[in-house]
Amino acid sequence: MTRPLRVALLPGDGVGPEVIAEARRVLEATGVALELEELPWGSAFWREHGRMMPEDALEIVRGFDAVLLGAVGDASLPDDVTLWGLLLELRQGLDLWANVRPARLLPGIPCPLAGRGPDDVDMLFIRENTEGEYSGVGGRAHRGTSAEVAIEASVFTRAGCDRVVRYAFEHARERRGVLTSATKSNASRYGYTLWDEVVRAAAADFPEVRVEHVLVDALCARMVLDPASIDVVVASNLFGDVLTDVAAALQGGLGVAASANVAPDSGTPGLFEPVHGSAPDIAGQGVANPTGAIWSTALLLEHTGHADAAARVMSALESAARHGPKTRDVGGEASTREVGEAVAARVADAT
Ligand code: NAD
Ligand code: IPM
Ligand code: MN
Repeated sequence: MTRPLRVALLPGDGVGPEVIAEARRVLEATGVALELEELPWGSAFWREHGRMMPEDALEIVRGFDAVLLGAVGDASLPDDVTLWGLLLELRQGLDLWANVRPARLLPGIPCPLAGRGPDDVDMLFIRENTEGEYSGVGGRAHRGTSAEVAIEASVFTRAGCDRVVRYAFEHARERRGVLTSATKSNASRYGYTLWDEVVRAAAADFPEVRVEHVLVDALCARMVLDPASIDVVVASNLFGDVLTDVAAALQGGLGVAASANVAPDSGTPGLFEPVHGSAPDIAGQGVANPTGAIWSTALLLEHTGHADAAARVMSALESAARHGPKTRDVGGEASTREVGEAVAARVADAT
């Protein structure tokens, strides 16, 4: 018998527990042998222990095959404390250097662009995930005085750019063969120019991929005006963050978008999470869309060698998108739980 898949569930804050409950339901419906453990980390943990997760959190997480995270963020705590205390600490601490974010419009989900549909929105974002603008390097001095200074340094390393760029090339080769590299090297002269050079050098090893260098501001406009022209995008940490919220909107909203934080070929557990945050405006109402969390579960299954189960989850999600039930953000009236139950039932039927 094969060893069960060990997954740590980290529901976190706000709508996190609501969408993770449904992701769990779907995961359990796949029939994959599982060992699930809930980690009660997040803002409630902070209130009790003065930290977002235990001191040996990285060690604990390394004992699993994967982590499924809901969301982090609580109005009563500073965002930089909660995010650097959990999500960003896990990404950096585990060196999960690639953030993979598919942005595909499922048939049946309304597109905000008039006249566009599923044929127009099928992109894959590969976001650098441990350095760049999110390196965490900097400081503040002369606090509270008129001489106050804040420095936020972007750190780009050749090795850090190279690994994520090559990973993106590999995806482009498997898809439509077009890689768009997004930077802002007309204004920022050091980090993004190094990035551009790394892309040019790597391109020599992927002759079947057409590469384009697009400035990130222009890319934002193109995503809205001509999304069908975009296949795989590789971008730095901050630009990848911003671009993928635009992409999420194109695929029906933040409730739909999924992501995988991974360290390919390392054996390190990946961290899978919806792109959205704790959504305090709808938390506790049972109306959050669990699609992003369930789609992230499919990414988790795919990355842990359960491609069949992943495909079944995706076709169940597609069926729910087409025929319902759907939550109100994508034009339906169903609750979070109704969507989760319907998707889980379809997964179980196909098993
Ligand atoms: P958000 O993603 O929480 O919410 C933005 C908008 O999207 C809101 O209108 C919200 O209702 C909607 N939305 C989000 N998830 C949804 C879902 N599943 N179904 C339907 N609608 C959904 O972003 P925000 O408001 O900028 O941030 C709120 C908090 O979350 C902040 O503390 C922020 O730092 C944090 N945050 C955390 C993560 C994460 O944990 N990965 C990501 C983004 C933001
Ligand atoms: C995301 C989120 C995070 C990020 C925040 C919460 C730190 O917006 O995963 O997209 O910027 O990476
Ligand atoms: Mn984001």
